[in-house]
Amino acid sequence: MDPLFIIEKFYTPGTKLYQILVGHSRIVTEKSLEIARNLTHLNPDLEFIKKAAMLHDIGIYLTRSESIGCSGEAPYICHGYLGRMLLDEHGLHPAYGLVCERHTGAGITKNNIMSSNLPLPQRDMVPISLEEKIICAADKYHSKNPKHADKTISTIQIIEKLGNINKNHAKRFSIWAEEFNL
Ligand SMILES: [Fe+2]
Repeated sequence: MDPLFIIEKFYTPGTKLYQILVGHSRIVTEKSLEIARNLTHLNPDLEFIKKAAMLHDIGIYLTRSESIGCSGEAPYICHGYLGRMLLDEHGLHPAYGLVCERHTGAGITKNNIMSSNLPLPQRDMVPISLEEKIICAADKYHSKNPKHADKTISTIQIIEKLGNINKNHAKRFSIWAEEFNL
């Protein structure tokens, strides 16, 4: 399976959105592989990570986010589970869709969805597999927003930012940061 072949079914090469998506996805793939290569004792699936990290944000075009050129209908927070729907409909192994669904924030719990009234299906969307955790963590080190895309983001900054959204996000990320030596 070639992730770019799938991306190009939904995004037109040469457009701003394609460049933002593919540029970001490549950076997240590299970061995920860097993390995974330091975790050989946990035996992460590098071939899966290479493809799943490229596809993790495929749902963004269905959402609204002016700063990155998305003009879809759904709130931006929906891009994870919508990406899962796209990949599932495409007949990919369900593991790929789960990476999409579980990568926003540091994962989102059903509790969090209900208590904050988030516009998401009411189920746990928290990374479970090692590969899901690695890709979710790697994603936090790079912003798709062209204004911030060149900035280096530190682990401390990520924890602070997640803590402003929800303390549990910061807690989950901190555990991964320790586990993965980030
Ligand atoms: Fe991402």
